[in-house]
Amino acid sequence: MFEAFYELTHTPFSRAIPTEELYNSYLLEETLGRLEYAAERQLFGVVTGDCGTGKTTTIRRFMDGLDPSKFSLLYISDSKLTPRNFYRGVLEQLGCESKFYRGDAKRQLHKEIELMRGIHGIQPIVVVDEAHLLDREMLEEVRFLLNFKMDAQSPMALILVGQNELWDRLKLQSYSAIRQRIDLQCKLVHYDRSETKEYMKRHLSYSGAKQEIFSDGAVDCIYNFSSGSARLINKVCTHSLLYGAQNKRRIIDDHMVKQVIEGELS
Ligand SMILES: Nc1ncnc2c1ncn2[C@@H]1O[C@H](COP(=O)(O)OP(=O)(O)OP(=O)(O)O)[C@@H](O)[C@H]1O
Ligand SMILES: [Mg+2]
Repeated sequence: MFEAFYELTHTPFSRAIPTEELYNSYLLEETLGRLEYAAERQLFGVVTGDCGTGKTTTIRRFMDGLDPSKFSLLYISDSKLTPRNFYRGVLEQLGCESKFYRGDAKRQLHKEIELMRGIHGIQPIVVVDEAHLLDREMLEEVRFLLNFKMDAQSPMALILVGQNELWDRLKLQSYSAIRQRIDLQCKLVHYDRSETKEYMKRHLSYSGAKQEIFSDGAVDCIYNFSSGSARLINKVCTHSLLYGAQNKRRIIDDHMVKQVIEGELS
């Protein structure tokens, strides 16, 4: 409803923002570069960051930028992932019905991947999101994907994506076998004040805003509340736009953002 009042053609601060319209922070560009490198060389990478810092969005952008004649991205996100569900999920994305037993499904996946590489010349990239929730058994299973054949070449690129606890766990002695195999690591962090402002500008220009809506003081307030987490910026901005439209205020200032935070978000 605030879209009409502010004369916007798209909804800003929403998850539905197309990947080509994302805010290109320095870190986003750098992470995409590393992911491309991991894809080309079929490496094992880990992407970590606090919740709401844009990990899944980065993967979405990475996927949209891949050449489908060279790469196939298989994406799994399941908080209660078991090895069987993992094989089933990946095989389904390859258009195959998974065999029932875990060992059979594993062999089936390896065969499909060999076909994909050998016959079609397509390199697979397996991305496991929410990987901080994986239990030890699942992490070990994922690791074994990388050396199913004793040859030197890795059968796929593998990217684990998760909140910071994932890296804390991988640092433990008992996970050293997995840690040692990690080829590259990326860490997403919160935006600083000027990135928060740029991020907001990007969402507003995508949505077709013709004039400034948030005052500089409002940006300070939004930054203090969100600590530069993209998801929290989205939340406070959306609530502020709703409040602004209800009260017919073209410019949203710090006073209004404070009222929104105190009244609706704290
Ligand atoms: N570069 C960006 N440009 C525009 N919007 C972004 C960008 N990065 C993240 N967002 C937005 O911020 C929100 C949170 O991002 P995302 O879901 O990717 O975070 P996450 O790190 O995966 O969080 P979690 O750890 O909770 O899974 C999403 O609505 C997304 O659209
Ligand atoms: Mg996510």
